[in-house]
Amino acid sequence: MIKLKPSDKLESLPPYLFTRIHKLKLEAYAKKLDVIDLSIGNPDMPTPRHIVDCLCDTVKHHTRTHGYPQAKGMPKFRVSVAKWMGRRFGVDLDFNSEILALIGSKEGIAHLCMAYLNPGDYVLVCDPAYPAHFNGVVIAGGRVYSMPLLEENDYLPNFSKIPVSIAKKAKIMLLNYPNNPTAAFVKDTSFWKEAIKYCKKYNILLVSDNAYSELTFGDAICNSIFEFSGAKDCAVEFHSFSKTFNMAGWRVGWCCGSKKLLYPLEKFKSFLDYGVPTFIQLAAVVALNSSQQCVREQAQIYERRMIKMVDGLNKVGWKTNKTQGTMYVWTSLPENLKEEGSLSVAERLLKETGVAVSPGVGFGANGEGYVRISLVTHDKRFHDALLRIKKFTKMGNIL
Ligand SMILES: Cc1ncc(COP(=O)(O)O)c(C=O)c1O
Repeated sequence: MIKLKPSDKLESLPPYLFTRIHKLKLEAYAKKLDVIDLSIGNPDMPTPRHIVDCLCDTVKHHTRTHGYPQAKGMPKFRVSVAKWMGRRFGVDLDFNSEILALIGSKEGIAHLCMAYLNPGDYVLVCDPAYPAHFNGVVIAGGRVYSMPLLEENDYLPNFSKIPVSIAKKAKIMLLNYPNNPTAAFVKDTSFWKEAIKYCKKYNILLVSDNAYSELTFGDAICNSIFEFSGAKDCAVEFHSFSKTFNMAGWRVGWCCGSKKLLYPLEKFKSFLDYGVPTFIQLAAVVALNSSQQCVREQAQIYERRMIKMVDGLNKVGWKTNKTQGTMYVWTSLPENLKEEGSLSVAERLLKETGVAVSPGVGFGANGEGYVRISLVTHDKRFHDALLRIKKFTKMGNIL
């Protein structure tokens, strides 16, 4: 057998902590344990019927859609996105030059880093964050500067704490609200204005990852960065069909922004992929152009689950608060388990009770002391999960 080492870039990536949880899950399934999987953000609800019907009909009857797609997105897709952004946020985007189809926003974020970064360039990344935010930077050869998201600051970064020397060297800032994993929501829109001002001052590309824009509760309504003056000069925004329309497996999303800021990503991708399959783009068009009632109803389901989980956790000694969006509950560990650490707690919880959650430390050092619970199982299962968590908490760590 030949001996080959993967690239230094790949080797420099931290171990992916979630693979340990994944392995334990597989072992538990193999033992036929009753697993309640609340670990990954994979929607449990199906894609709405009208979208599935469009896909089936298109694949069956329109064989020209079986060929290579238009990589940047077919005009119909980009026009639908532009109109949806106009209806939803009141923002004006040119379908021709300011929208780019993506094979999911994760792909887009990783490739944007590759399109913009030279080795050693700094990127301002929240800690904790969706892992693709920091891993995408490392794969591209960039350097992560962590902006702590602390509970006492409502999980918002404090831009004034970033050293000026770092700000001057930074090329990208990555923000994501409603936030994964903390479920934080931006209530005071002056945060976005401040972010834009900061990025313009230091010549930084502001990336707003808006994957959860439609998963908000009650009267909380998420903004687009382009609702704020000056954003087109410094920002791009990512959107995803994965959570909004329960289309996580379809792999489709988009990035939008000025032609100048978007073009490097389009150019980079043109060397790598052929874009989103045409039949998926056409089904995505139906998702955008149809009634959005299914999206609202789904958000209400997540809200109901969130209330049940937050109330239940607080009763058994895990401290957490009600949130205004996403599909996650971010909870601190109970006092008697804090010292053990989130990875060990998550592993034992799965092994001993069959409840799978994500260890907070997997999202960054500041995630230690927390776990993330995804609200992705049938409502009835939450009661069962809470009973198991209660028993586990009472037992503590006897080792
Ligand atoms: C913040 C955030 N951005 C992007 C993504 C990836 O979305 P997509 O399925 O469009 O790649 C996720 C998925 O969990 C996410 O949490």
